[in-house]
Amino acid sequence: MRVLITGSTGFLGEKLARKLLEEGHELYLIVRSQAKADILLDQLYSYKNRITFLSGHLSDKNLGMSDETIQSLTNQIDAIYHTAALFKLR
Ligand SMILES: NC(=O)c1ccc[n+]([C@@H]2O[C@H](COP(=O)([O-])OP(=O)(O)OC[C@H]3O[C@@H](n4cnc5c(N)ncnc54)[C@H](OP(=O)(O)O)[C@@H]3O)[C@@H](O)[C@H]2O)c1
Repeated sequence: MRVLITGSTGFLGEKLARKLLEEGHELYLIVRSQAKADILLDQLYSYKNRITFLSGHLSDKNLGMSDETIQSLTNQIDAIYHTAALFKLR
């Protein structure tokens, strides 16, 4: 399945992304920090061919993504996990 995840640079989201990749899914990861995306890609490097990073911010209209990006995702995503949050457990 094609799965979109918010918060993949966080504690829960990273674990979820790894699990879904191990199961063979293709991931679209909305991230607001390129530096954190680079670190995450290092951690998940063996799955890099099934990871697409999308730059986005939750508080922006359309998550800060362009109309073109939104259009390209329309009808392409099978499931969404929304794990992004202000909450910090650590
Ligand atoms: N940790 C647990 O054991 C646990 C257990 C049960 C439920 N939960 C729930 O799971 C959720 C996430 O917890 P967590 O521990 O994974 O938190 P976390 O480590 O603080 O991760 C939060 C994630 O949300 C992203 N984020 C926050 N604001 C954003 C915004 N405006 N736009 C885009 N991304 C944004 C962060 O991005 P940056 O990396 O760029 O900051 C990060 O990827 C919370 O609702 C928590 O209550 C957590």
